[in-house]
Amino acid sequence: MNTVFITGVTGQVGSYLVDLFLSKGYMVYGLKRRSSSLNTERLNHTFSNQNLKLEYGDVTDYSSIANLVANIKPDLFVNCAAQSHVRVSFDIPCYTFDASGASVINCLEAIRTHSPSTRFITMSSSEMFGSTPPPQNEQTPFHPRSIYAVAKLAGYYAVINYREAYNMHCSNAICFNTESPRRGETFVTRKITRAATRIKLGLQDKLYLGNMDARRDWSHAYDTSEAIFRIINASTPDDYVIGSGEMHSVKEFAELVFSKLGMDYKDYIETDPHYYRASEVDALCSNPTKIKTNLGWSPKYSYEQLVDEMIASDMELAKREKLIKDHK
Ligand code: GDD
Repeated sequence: MNTVFITGVTGQVGSYLVDLFLSKGYMVYGLKRRSSSLNTERLNHTFSNQNLKLEYGDVTDYSSIANLVANIKPDLFVNCAAQSHVRVSFDIPCYTFDASGASVINCLEAIRTHSPSTRFITMSSSEMFGSTPPPQNEQTPFHPRSIYAVAKLAGYYAVINYREAYNMHCSNAICFNTESPRRGETFVTRKITRAATRIKLGLQDKLYLGNMDARRDWSHAYDTSEAIFRIINASTPDDYVIGSGEMHSVKEFAELVFSKLGMDYKDYIETDPHYYRASEVDALCSNPTKIKTNLGWSPKYSYEQLVDEMIASDMELAKREKLIKDHK
């Protein structure tokens, strides 16, 4: 049986990868961090699957990664673990660098030392392009605008170095923004769909956002996971941009969500400087030609389908909340 080890397995993309690898017949080992509160919600639907095993560890702790790699010797290692919130990286830069950058070296060193034939892929980020204008592809120069992006860039180059120095099968998945009903609630798309559905049911009055002029390339986490699966299973390791090739502003996203719910976003959204970043990334839009051509990947979800699925899921959540509130 093929084995895969996934870090960040309790996160959004990690959980979609679990679904994907289980459906392909893999034995899936997932790394989870010890937490006093439950952090495995995204895996609830698949928790009882005998082919899923969660292990405690932390990518910032080399010994935990090295021990697990030495014991499991997985065929594949997918690194999704990170401090993934760009704005928060301005508050906790040193931790972010460890968790999102230096940690990649922990993974690579663990593989080199204990299981050199394990294939590796890390979630790299379009944030690395920063202020370089779109469209962005594998040749676009980097100009990171946060320590999060600086950390991702360090991890990106570490992967290339281990490929060149040790001939390891390691790749970068340069992911543009990735969304779904399982997206964390402090990222802007989910923050909007969650708030709009709650406002619709009278559970909330206002939504406070930061820079609504920022433009992003939003894909569904299902499609991102499919792309990662193809890259790590390709015969040659390489670096690929993953995105929809379509760009929308935060304002456009909010306008669409509120209008689908029969509301005008202008009546409910206010700006709060708390959500501004010290240095912003204005516009990200992928040119995913390389992955389409080399690996035959193309996204299943359109932008509108992604928005519809997120609204439908958050409406169910809001309805449950309302039911509980009305019966108190
Ligand atoms: N989070 C957040 N909250 N963002 C806001 C808000 C708000 O209230 N208001 C406006 N924004 C703007 C941000 O300033 C940013 O320009 C844009 O919305 C998207 O913010 P996020 O959803 O937080 O995502 P991100 O683009 O910063 O980073 C995400 O995508 C990267 C790939 O490009 C994360 O998933 C990263 O981990 C990932 O690498």
